[in-house]
Amino acid sequence: MINFDKLLDALENDGYYIEENVLDDDFVKDLKNEFLVRKLDMSHIGKDKNKNSEIRNDHISWLTENETSPAIQKYQKFLNTISNTINNAFYLGLNNVEAHFAKYEKGNFYKKHKDSFKNNNSRLITVISYLNEDWKKEDNGILRIYKNEHDYIDVEPKKGTVVCFLSEKIEHEVLPSNNTRYSITSWMRKDKL
Ligand code: OGA
Ligand code: NI
Repeated sequence: MINFDKLLDALENDGYYIEENVLDDDFVKDLKNEFLVRKLDMSHIGKDKNKNSEIRNDHISWLTENETSPAIQKYQKFLNTISNTINNAFYLGLNNVEAHFAKYEKGNFYKKHKDSFKNNNSRLITVISYLNEDWKKEDNGILRIYKNEHDYIDVEPKKGTVVCFLSEKIEHEVLPSNNTRYSITSWMRKDKL
């Protein structure tokens, strides 16, 4: 389980938090097995497909409210616990969680971006978990988190690592992956009711 004290501290002070070995090996295996049997969609669907695929070219599968897999249900509970904890600490009014599996094939990337902009949509908190066993330096696929314009921190997408950051504040990118790269990305939102 994630260290909530450190998470809250880091979000408040830095806007991002990284912890390794949050998800244990069996949990990661079960999630990965669920992932492998799902049908994935292009992430870059939208008005301008060609342009969008220059920004990102991974494939995704959204988690739903009706997941039957115990591993996925357990992961959704984990996300709800994080959301509730952040709400209780910061009164953000988070009232919705969305999550998708993401698969980056060799050569896939996601250029520098923010997950939401002020006054645009309701994503406030991003949480990403990685499911990659035996990830090596040369596999790259680094998540680069920008602390500011000049300074960044690199995260290897190793199994069990969880990253959390403020969606409106933190710019980040996925460097081209040299191996198949599996993750679950999620957003905690404040939707108008
Ligand atoms: C995203 C994203 C990063 C990652 O989906 O918005 O930035 O490491 N993902 O998968
Ligand atoms: Ni992102």
